[in-house]
Amino acid sequence: MSRRGESIRAVKGTRDLLPAEAALWQRVEAEARRIFLAYNFREIRTPVLEQTALFARSVGADTDIVTKEMYTFHDRDDESLTLRPEATASVVRAYIEHALYNEGGIHKLYYIGPMFRRERPQKGRYRQFYQIGAEVLGSDHPSIDAEFLEMLVLFLRRLGLQEFALLLNSVGCANCRAEYVKTLRRALERLKASLCVDCQRRSETNPLRVLDCKVEADQPVIEKLPHILEHLCPECRQHFERVTGELDQRGVAYQITPRLVRGLDYYTRTTFEMTSSVLGAQNAFLGGGRYDGLAEMLGGPRTPGFGVAIGQDRLMLAVEQAGQLKAGDRLSAYVAWMGEAALSPATRLVQELRGEDVSAEISYEPIKLKKSLGVANRLGARFAIIVGEGELAAGRYQVKDMTTGQQEEVEPGRIVSYLREKLASSG
Ligand code: HAM
Repeated sequence: MSRRGESIRAVKGTRDLLPAEAALWQRVEAEARRIFLAYNFREIRTPVLEQTALFARSVGADTDIVTKEMYTFHDRDDESLTLRPEATASVVRAYIEHALYNEGGIHKLYYIGPMFRRERPQKGRYRQFYQIGAEVLGSDHPSIDAEFLEMLVLFLRRLGLQEFALLLNSVGCANCRAEYVKTLRRALERLKASLCVDCQRRSETNPLRVLDCKVEADQPVIEKLPHILEHLCPECRQHFERVTGELDQRGVAYQITPRLVRGLDYYTRTTFEMTSSVLGAQNAFLGGGRYDGLAEMLGGPRTPGFGVAIGQDRLMLAVEQAGQLKAGDRLSAYVAWMGEAALSPATRLVQELRGEDVSAEISYEPIKLKKSLGVANRLGARFAIIVGEGELAAGRYQVKDMTTGQQEEVEPGRIVSYLREKLASSG
């Protein structure tokens, strides 16, 4: 408990996004909405709070997320609730709860919002982090997988990203994966003594997890383990071949990565991640795959699914590094007035500009011209409009382009259209 007078800080692993940063986040979200619209996805908003059982059943009771990372508490009526660590489970829950399957066809849904995992905070890893996610429910067609990955690549290119890799794998279906896990278990029996303590435990509890061990010394041993791609059943193998074939046709580059098994239990067949070399240790900035059995696990009808979650915090680091995308929220006009008589017409002008969606600011305290222009600069205004005694007498205000320094006299009635034209031509 903090004492009175002591300053209270943000909770560990959470942070404030101040306006300068938030502006670029908004820009990325706007690009996401634009691409989702083009591919016919519609937004779904699910609650941040869910029943704990939802994640235990879908993400998996033995996963790191469920055993170690969830913010779970008992509500006053003793119900166990959890702050969502991810949203795929919530989307599928909502799909079943509202019987969207009755509408038939394919549902394409997207969401943007905060998720919560109690991980050790570091750069690109937070306890409250943000995801931009999308899910396709109702088809297991391999073209769905390929089209989705094509959309992601287009989105990243629009954000100006060049340095990323698409890692691709198939984890098979319930049948062939079970057989593979047996084979893996047998192989681990012989090799586990030379692996780290965690992997020795995983060899017993969840052998697939050994494949994403990051311990350097374990890598040569893990490399020798059997690959899941060599153990797929004929249907899963054919599905994977069709996905990769279509990616080739669509011009989407990928790297087949047999060790990519992902940290959530609901996946079947295609799994993928994208990594960026500019991100350092936390280099996976998005991940996802197919989950054809999830709806049934949650008590719904059989509904195959495919989706992604983009870690927005990490995506933003890559976007900043690439430096191509600019926040588009620059102030258009700062109105500088001099002398009491100018205050009222200057206020009217600001009101008119704002009513016409030209962003504008004014100071109600009298300020000298030089200082006013300094304020306009600090606010990042594109234009300063000067209204002084001389301008009032002449019936024309001075409009100064703060980027070029050029100044023009414009009649008050023409200022909105004048600014609009200038702003449109400079982008
Ligand atoms: P995930 O791999 O657990 O998948 O998370 C997706 C992305 O969220 C990660 O690649 C990472 O960029 C970001 N992320 C995860 N944890 C953190 C954290 N603590 N701090 C910052 N970023 C983080 C899922 O969540 C699945 N729901 C994806 C999916 C959708 N699969 C099918 N549909």
